[in-house]
Amino acid sequence: MRLNLVLPALVGLLVLPSLTLGVAIGPTSPMTISNVRIAPDGFLRPYEPFYCFLALFDDPWPTRAAVVNGIHPGPLIVAQKGDLFDVTVTNKLTDPSITLDTSIHWHGIFQRGTTWADGPEGVSQCPIPPKGHSFRYKFSTHGQAGSFWYHSHFGNQYCDGVRGPIVVYDKNDPHRGLYNVDNEDTVITLTDWFREPMVTPGTPPASTLINGKGRFIKGPLVDLAVVNVRKGARYRFRLISLSCDANFIFSIDKHKLIVIEADGESTVPTKSVDAVQIFAGQRYSLILHANQEISNYWIRANPNLDPLKDVFKYGVNSAILRYAGAKAVEPPFSKPPTLELLRESDLHPLINPRAPGLPVINGSDFDKTFEVDFQGGRFLMNNESWKAPSAPILLQILSGKNASELMPQGSIVHLKRNQVVQLKITSISDVATPLIGIGQRLPFDFQSTNCTIQHPFHLHGHAFSVIKSADSDTFNFKDPVRRDVVSIGGLNQFAVIRFVTDNPGPWIFHCHIEPHLSVGLAVVFVEDFDNILRSNPIPQSWKDLCEVYEKSKALPAVPPQA
Ligand code: C2O
Repeated sequence: MRLNLVLPALVGLLVLPSLTLGVAIGPTSPMTISNVRIAPDGFLRPYEPFYCFLALFDDPWPTRAAVVNGIHPGPLIVAQKGDLFDVTVTNKLTDPSITLDTSIHWHGIFQRGTTWADGPEGVSQCPIPPKGHSFRYKFSTHGQAGSFWYHSHFGNQYCDGVRGPIVVYDKNDPHRGLYNVDNEDTVITLTDWFREPMVTPGTPPASTLINGKGRFIKGPLVDLAVVNVRKGARYRFRLISLSCDANFIFSIDKHKLIVIEADGESTVPTKSVDAVQIFAGQRYSLILHANQEISNYWIRANPNLDPLKDVFKYGVNSAILRYAGAKAVEPPFSKPPTLELLRESDLHPLINPRAPGLPVINGSDFDKTFEVDFQGGRFLMNNESWKAPSAPILLQILSGKNASELMPQGSIVHLKRNQVVQLKITSISDVATPLIGIGQRLPFDFQSTNCTIQHPFHLHGHAFSVIKSADSDTFNFKDPVRRDVVSIGGLNQFAVIRFVTDNPGPWIFHCHIEPHLSVGLAVVFVEDFDNILRSNPIPQSWKDLCEVYEKSKALPAVPPQA
């Protein structure tokens, strides 16, 4: 046991290339996906002393992390409102112990007219095979601005490191007067980091990384991330959850936060709060006024999963807010104070706040309830469990299938054009006693008893109005928050969302806890089937990728699902 603690630290010192933090690239820079050996919290994966010993030498063993441009999290993509993204992604993955194919999703970008560039496996594109194959994603951000991110949308791969932040800046930001600083140094990413590759999730996260750095319990005292501020200035922190599972309660000791953006949508500045709870895939812009004594303060991201939950000793789940002029030391250990949390229902969009449809519960054109259940090791939405089909849905459409022939039939919901869609999502499974088939592993967040999981649901192609938040009992049609990931709350709680079908394409709607998506927690909305191809001209390179992918597979093509 003692070896376990010492060796990884040694390895960290001797072998690892130092990670460059704060790397930013533009929206037309290429991205390379590759395997590297990293130990951001001081241990290499897998967590075995013998392996760590071997890693001291130039070993041919698998690397067990997959990253973008050699770093984790991947580089910050900096863009300006209206920019065109033109990113060639090259797949140089070589580690057979984790997934070798890849595809990239640009989380929060609506992909109007470019549904083919959206990324999800089985929906929008064929995967990019390894051995140096590449694919060019080209899309406009149109009028979108705010905080976004990118990640692999293939299997659980982003949990192994293929994830990074995106900020689309707006010269005419309506909130410009509220802060002095908003730059690469004010982006704060949150990540849960695991001890083993997530091909088969089995163990909970070992550490929380803030801007790529963090410690595990009883682990080596590796460097923590430092966010520098100057006394008197106001900062726009862009808090971006790159989480694979955990949600976090985020706070900064002795400082209040004002929320001005949720998931790429400007909000009316909220009252000051101590903390925000942020779910996988969500983003918040937070105004912090550096008006405290010149000193060091703990930045805390408290995850909901054991054993990390509520642990702050030795800087676990922590980073440092450092005032200019303060010593380069860590603040003394302290327990976090009781925190007043932001309520989602206190968020209101700054612009055009009304929810679409009529201001009554049955005021939509299309109304559907999804019940989330868990049976036999798989998640179900209304009794159907999503499995990515061998031919992506967009490819099926391109090859001339009728709307009713699209696979997997049970997981597809057709939506007509220009309708107000209302969805209620609720969890009906008692997750403390799930049924599971022999030989299947339980998602680890089910292993602790009496936990009620709060699934964060994400819709591609749209933001939606949350007319009923899980943390509120009332409906709001007048000015409900607009965002792209919403927590549905715990057992028997629910959220209700609305959006307008003005963006033809197949759009996946899924739980953003990756180990849940990979066991079925998704449906696909086929929005305006008749106009998908007309509105989304598909480039030849997209079709070519499918051929390349087919050829790359040594095995015969999987027969289509019944
Ligand atoms: Cu952040 Cu379907 O993705």
